[in-house]
Amino acid sequence: MQIGKKSFEIFCGTGGVGKTTLATARALQLAENGRKVLLITIDPAKRLKELLKLEDAEAGEVVSVHFNQTVQLDALLMSPEKTIQRMAGRAGEPHLSQNKIVQILSRPYGGMNEIFSLVELQMQFESGKYETIVLDTPPGPHFLDFLESLNKIKAFFDQSFVDIFNYLGKKKSKLGLMNRVISSGVKKLLSYLQAVTGAQFLDEFVEAVQVIYGSKDAFLKGLALQDKLKEKSQCNWFLVSSVEQGKIKEALDLKLHAEHFIHQDHYLLINKCLEKELSSWEPKDSNLIHLKESLVTKEHDLKENFKKHFTYVLEFPEVLELSPTEHLNFLYKYWNHYELQS
Ligand SMILES: Nc1ncnc2c1ncn2[C@@H]1O[C@H](COP(=O)(O)OP(=O)(O)OP(=O)(O)O)[C@@H](O)[C@H]1O
Ligand SMILES: [Mg+2]
Repeated sequence: MQIGKKSFEIFCGTGGVGKTTLATARALQLAENGRKVLLITIDPAKRLKELLKLEDAEAGEVVSVHFNQTVQLDALLMSPEKTIQRMAGRAGEPHLSQNKIVQILSRPYGGMNEIFSLVELQMQFESGKYETIVLDTPPGPHFLDFLESLNKIKAFFDQSFVDIFNYLGKKKSKLGLMNRVISSGVKKLLSYLQAVTGAQFLDEFVEAVQVIYGSKDAFLKGLALQDKLKEKSQCNWFLVSSVEQGKIKEALDLKLHAEHFIHQDHYLLINKCLEKELSSWEPKDSNLIHLKESLVTKEHDLKENFKKHFTYVLEFPEVLELSPTEHLNFLYKYWNHYELQS
């Protein structure tokens, strides 16, 4: 099977199936074949750090990795704070990263991480330095948040009250003016917020909306990226599953939910296949013979089932060595089974 060269490659799937490992292996294969590659991870488990021995790397900064004498790529561990700083710098909105509410929202589970990941992806693409950007996403539901984040951005900027805040923010006595300008629904909400949180919080809130609005171009470019990712000529989508977990239902659920955002030519990767290893195992003991047969049958049935639901299926073996670096060493070469289209 040949896989086209694209500007973006996105790896998604449920927890622990091998997204980070296979995405890293893929990035290394692309780099070995001469492409300029950036590997971005939004994996909260920070496994990329361990895999590429990035112990000293600062989150949010692009680092150059020399995996071996011939393979070199850039890697970035997502840090929303750093993305905001970059955005703020570009948009001439230095307050963006200083605003307390923005700081809260950009904490690991603050709700804005997915949005910032897309903005980061867009900014890195725009830098023109890379031929392919490989993105390793967090497990299942968080990945869907990532896809849906663009709709959240759109909803946010579509709301006319942003303009009102923008106007009010320029005035001195913001709260006084609100009485005259804002609809009763928003007014109620704000007076409630003021009662609960105090006027200072409300001022911060108004400022947060204003400065985010000031950087709206960066967010809206992220929005445009969504269309790019849906084009077959721009993005390879890899849905990762594994034999070990046999989670076909989860893979199908993810496919179903992601369908609005990805295109039809996506690939299913079945990781940790044991078939080859098992075929060279010749147990004498009848219990072990039985075990071998049942494992082979289970794996075979699972693959057949997957092939019914997915057009392109790529298999990756379970690597029995213990160290993650050895997994990587083996798997990045294994990607060559699936040739790059010239
Ligand atoms: N083909 C393989 N053979 C053997 N071990 C593997 C293989 N692929 C991944 N692993 C191991 O499985 C574990 C999970 O892998 P990885 O962290 O890549 O999964 P993930 O899907 O990114 O997980 P998470 O959902 O937590 O982000 C790791 O210990 C990794 O070394
Ligand atoms: Mg991971």
